[in-house]
Amino acid sequence: MFSWLERNPFFFTVVVFVTISFAGLIMILPNFAQSSQPVVGTKPYTVLQLAGRHVYIKDSCNACHSQLIRPFKNETDRYGAYSLSGEYAYDRPFLWGSKRTGPDLMRIGNYRTTDWHENHMWDPISVVPGSIMPAYKHHFTNLADIDTAYAEAVTVRDIFDTPYDQEGMPQLGGLEDSKATALADAKLITANMKNQAVKDAVENGQIPEIVALIAYMNSLK
Ligand code: HEC
Repeated sequence: MFSWLERNPFFFTVVVFVTISFAGLIMILPNFAQSSQPVVGTKPYTVLQLAGRHVYIKDSCNACHSQLIRPFKNETDRYGAYSLSGEYAYDRPFLWGSKRTGPDLMRIGNYRTTDWHENHMWDPISVVPGSIMPAYKHHFTNLADIDTAYAEAVTVRDIFDTPYDQEGMPQLGGLEDSKATALADAKLITANMKNQAVKDAVENGQIPEIVALIAYMNSLK
């Protein structure tokens, strides 16, 4: 029945190629779908962390820092377990980065602390002699944009079914609820900071960018 095919090398090649590709897709696609499911324990960002993520994007930290640990020994020794695609389930957009002028930050929350970040962002050389990272002193005076972070959280909850407001996940409530939660989270951070102007701002209900950025850095684990 298929002898015409065997006598025609061109079509034979095409049919073999199509058949193998199709079978390959059947094998591969379910794995893709599976591995992009959130890894157990991965949670959406809180509103304060999202505001910090916006600072990270706005100031192009991703131009010098990656957030993707490759499965090589030299990387896992330095940064920790290699990245799994399911860990990025709630990252919109991804911040994998393509250049490492500075180190990878995927799991920075495991080995740097709030006070370390405070000193480092104010003056990198003070903690890492010879550092070429720029200082970000304006983070200590500019205020984080909590309203936009809240709007983003509500949007991804409603459009992409990001599991906010579910049991064990960050709670949004209304804008005022979210602002109150962000402020409470901010106070937990400033408890470990020394910059008096930043502490005072948070006491007065304002959240400087540095506090949101540190909340975000601490969440990267
Ligand atoms: C011009 C490139 C550049 C930019 C832009 C930059 N960094 Fe860095 N960063 C570096 C370099 C180089 C280092 C390594 C030296 C050091 O620790 O200061 C570093 C180190 C770090 C570290 C410590 C990492 C570790 O493993 O110890 C953190 C955290 C960090 N940067 C955060 C940020 C954040 C947040 C931003 C954006 C606000 C940013 N960086 C922007 C170059 C950069």
